[in-house]
Amino acid sequence: MKLRRSQFLIGFVTAFLVVLTIWACVSDRNSLAQPTSPDGKPGSTPSIDAAKKKGFDGVDFSYDPFGAPPGQDAVLSAEQVMKKDVSEKPAVMKRQQQLLQDRYDMACRSASGAVMTKGKSQPVGPAVKLPSGTTWEQLAQLTPEEIKKKSGFPRGFDRLPHVKHAVGGMVFPSMQIKDFPRLERFDVDFDLPDCFLPEFPPPIFLTTHPELGDVSQGEVLSAENFDRLFRGLITPVQLDGLRMLVTQFPQEEFNATHDRKTAKPSLGVACLDCHVNFHTTGQFHLNPDTRPQLDRLRLDTTSLRGMYNQQIHGSKRSLRSVEDFTEFEQRTAYFNGDSIRAMKKGINMIDRLQVAHMAQMQSMIDFPPAPHLDPMTGRLDRAKATQMEIRGEELFFGKAKCVACHAPPSYTDHQMHDLQLERFGAMGDGPIKTFVLRGIKDSPPYFHDGRLPTLEDTVEFFNLVGGLKLEAEDKKALTAFLRAL
Ligand code: HEC
Ligand code: HEC
Repeated sequence: MKLRRSQFLIGFVTAFLVVLTIWACVSDRNSLAQPTSPDGKPGSTPSIDAAKKKGFDGVDFSYDPFGAPPGQDAVLSAEQVMKKDVSEKPAVMKRQQQLLQDRYDMACRSASGAVMTKGKSQPVGPAVKLPSGTTWEQLAQLTPEEIKKKSGFPRGFDRLPHVKHAVGGMVFPSMQIKDFPRLERFDVDFDLPDCFLPEFPPPIFLTTHPELGDVSQGEVLSAENFDRLFRGLITPVQLDGLRMLVTQFPQEEFNATHDRKTAKPSLGVACLDCHVNFHTTGQFHLNPDTRPQLDRLRLDTTSLRGMYNQQIHGSKRSLRSVEDFTEFEQRTAYFNGDSIRAMKKGINMIDRLQVAHMAQMQSMIDFPPAPHLDPMTGRLDRAKATQMEIRGEELFFGKAKCVACHAPPSYTDHQMHDLQLERFGAMGDGPIKTFVLRGIKDSPPYFHDGRLPTLEDTVEFFNLVGGLKLEAEDKKALTAFLRAL
């Protein structure tokens, strides 16, 4: 009798719990299905859920099975992933080439005198295509509202996506892969032609040895040659920093685990694989600071020249020291801001002393010489500059208002600014660092994502976005001044 009563009790409690669980699930489902707005009305919010879901649309879950939304079973073996990626690559590249063709005139143009420091032709534009039936002059007469209304903002002025945005990761130009085959991915190739990229290898200028000029001896600094090239020229501390900067460390796509995008296992990438010779040759990845995935910004590698004269670092993060950014690059940016994946693939925990060495080395790198600038003011030396450059300088400091954000000597204000491109119907980027303009002729393509292939494009961009209404001759002069910086 006693036994039967306790059996009944257990049965009753179990049944009660089951009902409770089902009720909890159902009510949870309901709340998911019907998002409520802050004022309690169901279904009327500009939905955060929809924004998150966008991060999943089009994402290749086989790459990150942990990222798949509930109910999506997408775990493939490493071999299957590679096979699938390789077979999809031609279509991925074709889609990106189409996108570039729609945005830009991809012909390589040059002009006499427009050269980079070691003599490579500077790309001459504008390369950004105009919406059909309009001219730059006509477009510049319109207000942001009018441009937005007729969807008239040139597509090349809008965000430039990664070749495979849903997956992202570091991508290296083919001229570099030729010398360093370990930097080749099986799923994507680089998208821009070499003529829109900096010289390879770029020259190196040391703040401690201005008398020597370019100290690279025409080589790409790497683990194989850094000691031979720099021992005796820099301090032991700097040499140790340099050793770290040329050492490969694991990263999201380049690592020794099955979960990578290189055919063979890789030891990873070195800082100077991207910042080649402390400069850049256009390597790109996605910023680690934004989500969902499709909203992340493509990032064109910045030059590390003149780091000693910059007080904020990164397009979005505004980190306040080279030391902090050095640590951030390897621990966060290498792994898309996801430290769990970093642990899985082999994060390199650099200690603060090593960080200090790496940072010191970076701070020894100078801008390239600018023989037309007066060392006392950072402005043109009127005895050496051309008439065109002088007119450009007057505009830069006057009617064109560039100096409001780009002030000498490095031509930055160490601030972030929001250019609010959404006014024109484009995707706004929010605040972005004012990049330095010293040595700017050496680092096409321009802007954080490399959306502007030439300096002419940057001038057309600010003419339109700043409502400057510059004459054709003004634009030429302004570009000439930029090339002299
Ligand atoms: C994909 C190739 C890549 C690799 C590898 C890489 N970087 Fe960068 N680096 C970038 C990009 C892209 C930016 C621009 C980031 C931004 O704008 O937010 C950047 C920015 C920086 C900056 C800040 C520049 C500024 O003032 O805004 C520093 C400093 C830097 N990197 C140092 C390093 C160090 C040190 C390493 C190695 C630990 C490293 N980078 C590895 C691509 C790379
Ligand atoms: C309101 C501040 C502001 C003004 C005014 C301004 N800029 Fe900029 N400039 C920026 C910011 C911010 C960026 C980075 C934008 C990005 O990467 O999305 C930038 C980027 C650039 C770049 C590309 C730098 C690089 O490394 O890719 C060039 C070139 C440039 N500006 C030239 C000019 C010229 C010429 C003018 C005047 C006609 C001008 N800017 C006016 C803020 C400004």
